Amino acid sequence: MADKIVLELKGLNKSFNQGESKIVILNDASFSIKKGEIVALIGPSGTGKSTLLYTAGLLDKADSGDVIIDGKMTSKLSDNQKTKLRCKKIGFVYQQHNLFADFTAGENVMLPLLINGVKRERALEIAKSHLDKMGLINRINHRPMEMSGGEQQRVAIARALANSPMLLLADEPTGNLDPYNSEVVFENLLLRVRNDNMTAFIATHNPILAKKMDRKIALVDGKLVDIDLKENMQVLENSSMGRKILEAFK
Ligand SMILES: Nc1ncnc2c1ncn2[C@@H]1O[C@H](COP(=O)(O)OP(=O)(O)O)[C@@H](O)[C@H]1O
Ligand SMILES: [Mg+2]
Repeated sequence: MADKIVLELKGLNKSFNQGESKIVILNDASFSIKKGEIVALIGPSGTGKSTLLYTAGLLDKADSGDVIIDGKMTSKLSDNQKTKLRCKKIGFVYQQHNLFADFTAGENVMLPLLINGVKRERALEIAKSHLDKMGLINRINHRPMEMSGGEQQRVAIARALANSPMLLLADEPTGNLDPYNSEVVFENLLLRVRNDNMTAFIATHNPILAKKMDRKIALVDGKLVDIDLKENMQVLENSSMGRKILEAFK
């Protein structure tokens, strides 16, 4: 199906209490992503990109509203049901690689497969193929500490893709790398997502990386706004955050 919706965010609200004050991150935020789309989540740091991605990835919970993944509403699922859904359908790349330090690259990539019940031998085969596609087959027996930042992040991407998830969420996946490595690793990530016709939602504060994606969505005053749609121009121009985003990303 050409326009099947993979991720739908429906009327999400979320705020944090910071001392006496309450900061609103999501204010009736709604948005959906169709199969095969690669969508950038843009905006300066502190606007709530991580909070939104963690909520979309069922790692955090909104105060109200729903996250619908592949047609399934998740707000009423138990933690256990959410974990199962996440393991099956979502790959997540964190800003810091979050690899297990005591495990080799191969073992790190095998882990989500083993959790999903794939037999060890088959899991190793799949892990090898993913590491190979990331140019890291010669690193399969190395631990994270023995690798560079760019290599660690490529292992983290291989791990997120190991289960062939229908949805990839990535939180500034190259944010901690130098500009050269950031570009290389990002290209690698996009290539993998496009080749497998996966759907992706990727946070970045980097306008150059954002422009490589199909659509650019910004969090503006708690709402999700597609900055390339003409009908949203007024909303963006009326908000100080919106104007900042237009200046940097348009
Ligand atoms: N657990 C938390 N408790 C209180 N405030 C938080 C928490 N997590 C994030 N925040 C605040 O929410 C805002 C958005 O954070 P974040 O989602 O990390 O933004 P971004 O990823 O765009 O930098 C920040 O002001 C941050 O301090
Ligand atoms: Mg963040």
